[in-house]
Amino acid sequence: MAIERTLSILKPDALQKGVIGKIVDRFETKGLKPVAMKMKQLTTDEAGGFYAVHRERPFFKDLVSFMTSGPVLLMVLEGENAVAANREIMGATNPKDAAPGTIRKDFAESIDANTVHGSDSLDNAKIEISYHFAATELVAYDWAKK
Ligand code: TYD
Repeated sequence: MAIERTLSILKPDALQKGVIGKIVDRFETKGLKPVAMKMKQLTTDEAGGFYAVHRERPFFKDLVSFMTSGPVLLMVLEGENAVAANREIMGATNPKDAAPGTIRKDFAESIDANTVHGSDSLDNAKIEISYHFAATELVAYDWAKK
């Protein structure tokens, strides 16, 4: 399997609850390593641009307002099949539909305050990583090492 990179965001509800460590632990336990991490208070323009694909959706305004309601933790995760692996660890968009043991099942309150973002394809991961990080901010691991 290929080593991939994906963008993860711990949303304002996760930071408000103080569960950064618990969530990052889930990624590391499943073999995903952070190769970049950055705390940020997103501006309306930054959050709106990031979610531009949803601009015409009825929830867009609330989504941007939620994403700017407090600080977020932006992260690049690296590992085997990282895009799909991260989506599996996150669980379904609506926590009511999320499988037991997923982050959204265990920490999310609602479909809008759903704790984590994760890129949904390798192409989008590349776009989303470069939206939030310069290439020089990413470190590298030697995956051949045990
Ligand atoms: P989406 O890309 O469909 O989900 P995911 O985050 O699982 O990739 O939607 C982006 C975010 O928009 C989602 O995490 C929460 C918000 N959202 C709503 O608030 N209401 C909705 O009905 C949907 C579909 C999404």
